[in-house]
Amino acid sequence: MRLPTDPAAIERAAELLRAGGLVAFPTETVYGLGARADDDAAVGRIFALKGRPADNPTIVHVASAEAAFALVDSPSDAARSLAQAFWPGPLTLVVRAKPGAVSAVARAGGATVALRVPAHPVARALLLAAGVPVAAPSANRSTAISPTTAEHVEKSLGGGVLVLDAGPTGFGIESTIVDVTSSLAVVLRRGSVSREEIARVAGGARDAADRVEVEGAPMRAPGAMARHYAPRVPLLLTALPSAAAFGSGAGYLLLEGAIAPSDAAAVRFSPAEPAAYAALLYASLHALEDAGVDRIVVQEPPVTPEWAAVNDRLRRASAR
Ligand code: TXA
Ligand code: MG
Repeated sequence: MRLPTDPAAIERAAELLRAGGLVAFPTETVYGLGARADDDAAVGRIFALKGRPADNPTIVHVASAEAAFALVDSPSDAARSLAQAFWPGPLTLVVRAKPGAVSAVARAGGATVALRVPAHPVARALLLAAGVPVAAPSANRSTAISPTTAEHVEKSLGGGVLVLDAGPTGFGIESTIVDVTSSLAVVLRRGSVSREEIARVAGGARDAADRVEVEGAPMRAPGAMARHYAPRVPLLLTALPSAAAFGSGAGYLLLEGAIAPSDAAAVRFSPAEPAAYAALLYASLHALEDAGVDRIVVQEPPVTPEWAAVNDRLRRASAR
């Protein structure tokens, strides 16, 4: 059920969270499916609804850096500097969890926890009203395309979940994840905050986001599953989509200015600028999927550092 984002709705959603229920809410990246992070049973409901493997931990969201560090065991200097520079915002920090502070289900049994202070005003209002840390993965079935609108949430999870509807999210792809448990920061997932920005603030950073793993195998770097963010139909990445090569059932996601094949079943155009492209990417994939195409052919964006986060998502979406 979709609710507007007025104070009464936010209070109702906060009440539901405190009682151990699930609430889907907007963040500046994608919509999250939240449950109170200090309650094993509540967090377990997220895994059940998403069909998420129990060995894949969730990000825990809090209203402030102060609330975040209350959950951390001996934070590193890099953790402090990155939080100072990028929170609130699309950055997630993996830190050592203070014993007993966060549900073991949210941590997937590990000693670390992924923390994020979102910038979206509705997320912030909800977290403040709830007064508890909120575990929230993206609000979609496991491995499907992430939701950037409340409609996407309902399409993936059904109408039974309460969704605070604030319209489309701004960044459109998930937060950058950085492991700051050791002296050198490690980028585990690319996002709007680039590795270069992380390295500048943290005094260096290693990039582990290229390491992909097979779904189902025990995860050394959770979140690095090869097949992720995937539409229901095959997605193909190609330099220059040409007429007839992919059949008349194919849908195309092209860069602005490209010429669509004459036999395309559906076509979407993306801005040729990385941030604007990212903001629309998942909505375009959802729309092509909804148009009933039998495959999605994506014109490959440039392979340059500015496009790293977008190319990462496209590569994972095309993995079978
Ligand atoms: O932008 C985002 O990060 C969104 C919004 C809702 O905040 N959330 C999101 O959650 O993308 P999810 O669960 O779809 O992706 C979180 C990723 C997972 O791939 C998980 O494996 C990884 O974060 N992760 C969570 N806890 C971790 C930990 N302790 N160590 C390493 N990776 C972790
Ligand atoms: Mg996800």
